[in-house]
Amino acid sequence: MKIGVLTGGGDCPGLNAVIRAVVRKGVGVYGHSFVGFRDGWRGPLENDTVPLDVTAVRGILPRGGTILGSSRTNPFASADGPSRIRETLDRTGVDAIVAVGGEDTLGAAARLHAEGVPVVGVPKTIDNDLSETDYTFGFDTAVNIAMEAIDRLHTTAESHHRVLVVEVMGRHAGWIALHSGMAAGANVILIPERPFDIDKVCAFVEQRFATRYAPIIVVAEGARPIAGTAMAREGELDAFGHVRLQGISGLLETEIRGRTGRETRATVLGHVQRGGTPTAFDRWLATRFGLHAVDAVHEGDFGTMVALHGTRIDRVPLSEATGELKTVPEHLYGEAEVFFG
Ligand code: F6P
Repeated sequence: MKIGVLTGGGDCPGLNAVIRAVVRKGVGVYGHSFVGFRDGWRGPLENDTVPLDVTAVRGILPRGGTILGSSRTNPFASADGPSRIRETLDRTGVDAIVAVGGEDTLGAAARLHAEGVPVVGVPKTIDNDLSETDYTFGFDTAVNIAMEAIDRLHTTAESHHRVLVVEVMGRHAGWIALHSGMAAGANVILIPERPFDIDKVCAFVEQRFATRYAPIIVVAEGARPIAGTAMAREGELDAFGHVRLQGISGLLETEIRGRTGRETRATVLGHVQRGGTPTAFDRWLATRFGLHAVDAVHEGDFGTMVALHGTRIDRVPLSEATGELKTVPEHLYGEAEVFFG
């Protein structure tokens, strides 16, 4: 078979590990050949390809980013998107696509599969918000980067007796905030799944100062105050109609300073969480996802996504994995709340 590989959506550490595993097993075990599509769904839409063989994937396992490039191109943005992709497959002799992506890229993969495009999905995103898999790769690296940053902020917060607000990514899910906040001993963790009460946040701040520590507040970029309170702000939309989030930490900084009179500073970790080398866990997970994705293609099991269940890699329908976001359940947030204040 000739197999096309693409990486779409926001990049994350571990994408290259997937590409390497897919190609190494596909060539070495099955004798398939490969082609890379550049920049996610833009590649097959515009027939933009790059050679992809064992030589091309040497040395890329520890490298962040993606050798194929990425974009948030939506193949359904124009009515002829699916037919253009089918044309590219015919013209290049590609029998199937391995699409590595998150909710948007794999949501498009599910729809394309329904329109006759043979595709297998691999779940990536630092946000960890894809359903039907315990973890996506990229998440562990982002959490470790955020944890290290919060550790560092603790010491400077204490020197200056300040409130430090740390904004992490995660879009509409609070996974990065929850895991990094728990790992680094945050005093309050604010997530999109649970709108916050600013008065309670300020009470936690004062409680923390009363015990002679400086408060660290970890806030997910998608967190919002309880309706009716000030501070909501919306940004521009991307090709999939998602709002660009950022800035809740600045708003919190202003509110906390205004209400408590405490010196407050905001830090936005931003794309630092997506850059650099993957952790061992993400290299392991991404590599295993790649090995199992090429098995699925080889067996013609299209319309599926490889998924982690415990330590097992299974296949689940792409439509189910992308049907609903996986958000933080109440009981897990409850565990973190024990440490607030
Ligand atoms: O989905 C990954 C992610 O990093 C989100 O956490 C964040 O909201 C978004 O992508 C940022 O997107 P961009 O890189 O387009 O600014």
